[in-house]
Amino acid sequence: MSYKNIIVEINPPIATILINRPEKLNALNVETVTELADVFRKLSANDSVGGVLLTGSGEKAFVAGADISEIRNLGADEGRKFAAAGQAAFNLIEQLGKPVIALVNGYALGGGCELAMACHLRVAGEDAKFGQPEVNLGIIPGYGGTQRMPRIIGKGIALQYLLSGEMISAQRAHEIGLVNKVVPSAELKEAGQKMLGQILSKGPLAVRYVLSAVSEGLDTNLEKALNIESSYFGKACATEDMKEGTSAFLEKRKANFRGK
Ligand code: COA
Repeated sequence: MSYKNIIVEINPPIATILINRPEKLNALNVETVTELADVFRKLSANDSVGGVLLTGSGEKAFVAGADISEIRNLGADEGRKFAAAGQAAFNLIEQLGKPVIALVNGYALGGGCELAMACHLRVAGEDAKFGQPEVNLGIIPGYGGTQRMPRIIGKGIALQYLLSGEMISAQRAHEIGLVNKVVPSAELKEAGQKMLGQILSKGPLAVRYVLSAVSEGLDTNLEKALNIESSYFGKACATEDMKEGTSAFLEKRKANFRGK
């Protein structure tokens, strides 16, 4: 898979995606968003890939936002389409059915923070900085920030950062639940591989069903959400992995999951 703005490395079962426009702090131009959508479609169909690590090139930025030079001349209709296209691309990440971990090195601002939030988990280097600074530009987040941030950290604190545009340190991001873990920046990749490796040692279908149940359930009321859970629980019970996992526990041995 060869792209202009991203580098994809597949070492089964892990795929690593590097956003590679360091001279623009990895800002997401439309071409990069299109490439991200394409690679996530391909990774979804690639059975050798169990999970994805997503990071930015260079030491300064994960992604410093959508490319402001492309936003400047948008009108109402173009702006709506611009946002919808980015949202659709990021939805492919959230709905991949395989865990995606953002490894946040440096700035994750605007579209960068939104990209990290579309991933299932976030590990930050200790000098990472998050934020939704769109109000400084007279716009609002358009790639899911107004919706995913309150879902992750709660409405009150999300509004504080969405309305102020204030940057969020890695430590503060950890305190408010925006990131799962903060590590020394030099250890980011290793920490991400370890976190993903732990998940990939579990039943792959169970992992997929957890991702689906959480994301589908959060978008509905509790009664419907519990139905979603029981439906996925039933699906899990019909898998060979369930027979293997429960047998292995009772036989005091390590489970050998096959994703069936
Ligand atoms: N869109 C387009 N270009 C961007 C960008 C963005 N979101 N963020 C950074 N860049 C570009 C800069 O224009 C500059 O390009 P140039 O060298 O051709 O002038 C290059 O990346 C380096 O950025 P610079 O601002 O010089 O680095 P800095 O260390 O002084 O500041 C930031 C870093 C992240 C604080 C600053 O770049 C910034 O505020 N970026 C915009 C963040 C933002 O508002 N994102 C939301 C967009 S909707």
